[in-house]
Order: sequence, then structure tokens, then C-alpha cells
Amino acid sequence: MQETIAPARAIEGIIGLPGDKSISHRYAILAAIAEGETTIANYSTGADCQSTLACVEALGAKVERRKVAKVADDGGDSRPNAEADDGQIIIAVQGGALKESPRELDAGNSGSTIRMLSGILAAQPFTSRIGGDESLSRRPMRRIMRPLEQMGASMEAHDGKFPPLTIYGRPLHSIDYTLPVPSAQVKSCVLLAGLFAEGDTIVREPVRTRDHTEIALREFGADIEAGRRVITLRGGAKLTGRELGVPGDLSSAAFFLVAALLMPEANLVIHGVGLNPTRAALLDFLVGMGASIKILDLRQIGGELIGDMRVRTSRTSGQVSGGVIEGAMTAALIDEIPALAVLGAASSGGLTVRDASELRIKETDRIAVLEENFRRMGVAMEATADGFHIPGGQRFHAAELDSAGDHRIAMAFAVAALAADGASTIHGAEAAGVSFPEFFGILRQISR
Ligand code: S3P
Repeated sequence: MQETIAPARAIEGIIGLPGDKSISHRYAILAAIAEGETTIANYSTGADCQSTLACVEALGAKVERRKVAKVADDGGDSRPNAEADDGQIIIAVQGGALKESPRELDAGNSGSTIRMLSGILAAQPFTSRIGGDESLSRRPMRRIMRPLEQMGASMEAHDGKFPPLTIYGRPLHSIDYTLPVPSAQVKSCVLLAGLFAEGDTIVREPVRTRDHTEIALREFGADIEAGRRVITLRGGAKLTGRELGVPGDLSSAAFFLVAALLMPEANLVIHGVGLNPTRAALLDFLVGMGASIKILDLRQIGGELIGDMRVRTSRTSGQVSGGVIEGAMTAALIDEIPALAVLGAASSGGLTVRDASELRIKETDRIAVLEENFRRMGVAMEATADGFHIPGGQRFHAAELDSAGDHRIAMAFAVAALAADGASTIHGAEAAGVSFPEFFGILRQISR
């Protein structure tokens, strides 16, 4: 599928966003192993989170899509997955003991699904096989296999390191594990396995990563102590079903924030966005570049911070300045780098990204795919092994662009296309549906 994007001069509107992808995965997985029913409002509509639901269903959890009149928080009626007149869909999961899936589990394009579920599968009294699409089949799994094997797990992978994985479930023992790469997926995998292990599982993270798993585990009743760098989880806790609502996805909001900041005029309000401090580095970074972003109402749901935000630009506010992303900042902004790269090219000082070799093993090699699409738009970018530099003050030329099957690339270049000198086409635009099927619709709705 292709989408044609015409240039815009302004971004305006009041919008809500579908639920955060990271949090949705965690709620679905924990709901599947918790006793009783969990209801999840504003569950992510992206294909990745549907893959997680299909996997837990294949493992015996009962998943129902229920239409309800009104749910707790929030996002307002403009939420894209709210039904126009009388309510919205919530996901109800009846959890308990898992059972062997009759077929190979399909994680689709989702690294989070395969890496996090593996932690649970490793401890079940049955064998599982889990794989995914072509892109997922190239993504590294040793990072979860290593700690799980230390816990006593038995598993096989294609070429010893790629999906599909065959996981021979068995009793696990706890470990004290220091993450060699900053990865919330790996941390979560170990903690989820630790739920079924005897004793205290300890995860140490030299670089802090998103803490949604720790928060969700506490919500479901696990015995967990989460310090800034050390997390201790007591094995054997019984989890219980909960009523939950998912904050809007800040990583999806990033594309609209950048779109607004590229325009000479913008006034955009985004309702009910997740502002967990381990994710909100994006806002600090943008404000540091001179962006005018205000948080209008800060509150909590399910232990997660959530707020409404307003971003504005005007003819007098001028260009944002450039920036450098490196060290711990790179890990905190890893999913937002494609969008920030676009903003960097239009900024006054450009963008430098370092310590980002992880970008090369995401859904695509994002450094290579950014470079190729920028080249097509006539935008200069110097790639390095673990990052890139994009000089500022550049103009975007209309072009034929290609997502390479990567959702964040499709959305980043749709936003770049808004600032181009003519209509651009995004090939493989359907990739946006991996995290944000409503993206192009909302982009049209707010572009003037
Ligand atoms: C995620 C963690 C990050 C992120 C991904 C979602 C999560 O991946 O890039 O989109 O939900 O835990 P890594 O754990 O590989 O850094």
C-alpha cells in the first residue's frame, strides 16, 4: 500500500491516541497468567499487540473484545479507537494456568512479544515454538537465551540465535543478572521468568530502561522492589486480574510533535499520553531544542503517569536548535530517533546520534533505511557504525519513499513529506499498522 502526502503549512487539532504498545503487551501477558479476569481499556490497536493477544489465546487464555459505554481514563472522545457514539472496545482476558499451544506461536513483527513471552514459556510444563515474520526472524535472541539458560531453561533457536525458538519448559531457578545491553525486553523476559522461579530474581541495569514491567507486575500483585538500577522480584507470587486502562502511546505522539515543530504554524493538543519518566526523555529533548510543549493535566492510571500535552509553533518562534543524542539518552530515545532525525534535518544545528548500534537491529537497520530515504529527499546524512550526523537547515524534496516494512520509518517519512516541496509517496505505508493503524487518518485530520 502507498500513501501520497501533500505538503502542509500548519498542524492543528485535538486528538487522542491508541494505547501504548509497550504497556499493552505487558498487560496482555500478565493478564494471561493472572487468576480471574483483567479488562484493558484503550489497548493498542497495532498489529504487534494483536500478535500478543493471539499468542496468549493460543496458550489457553480467553480473550474477548467487549463494547462498553464508558471507561475510566481517558483521552477524550477523539480517541481513534473510541466508537463514535456509544462507547469503546475493551479487551477482557480470562487468565490462569497456560496450556500447550496446538500450533507454533506467531509473534508477527513483534520483538517484544517473542522476547517477553519466552520468559514465561521457559517455565511452563510443556514445549512451545514461537516465531514471526521475516524481519523478526533476523533479530537477535541470544540476549534472552543467555539469562534464561542461566535460570535452567532449555531452548533452541535457528542458527543458535534467531527465531523461531523451541522452548522446552521446565522448572527454573532465580538468578542475579546484569543486563549487558540496555533492553527493557530482556529485563522483562528475566523478570517474567522470575515469577515462576524459586527465590529472588535480581536484575541490574547499568543504563535505565523503561519500567512498565515493574509497574505492571506491582499492579497485578507481584512482590517486587524496583530501585533505579536494581530490581528484585520474589518468585512464586500469585497474580490477580485487574481493571486497567492504557495511556496513549508517547512514541506515536512523537510523530505528531515533530510534524507540528516542522510547520510555521501549529497548535495541537494530544489527550491522555503516557508520560512515564523512563519514556519522557523525548519531551525534555524537544524542549531542550527550544520546542514549546506544555503538559496540561498530569495524573496517574495503573501506576503510570499520563497527561495532556499542547505543542505550539508560530511564525515568530523560528526553527528549533540542534542536538546530540548519546549514552543513556540514546537508550531512552531509541524508538523516537527516526522522528527526531527528520526534525534534526530541519533544525538550525542538526542532529548527532551516538551509541546507537541497537538501531541497526530493530525492525530494520534503521540507520541504513534513514540514510536511503533522506538521500531520496536530497537530505544529507553521514552514517557511522553506531549512529549518524545530519546537518541542520536542510530542505526536504518531494520523493518516492520506502518504509522497508518498518512502521517507524513509514511514519517518520510521512512527517518529513509534510515539509517537502511537493507531494511525496510512501511505499509500504501499511507498515505503520504495526504500532499505529490510525496514523495516516489522524495525520490528514490535523494537516492544513
Ligand atoms: C520495548 C523496548 C525497546 C523498544 C521497543 C519496545 C519494550 O526495545 O525499542 O520498541 O516494550 O520493552 P529493546 O528492549 O530491544 O531496547
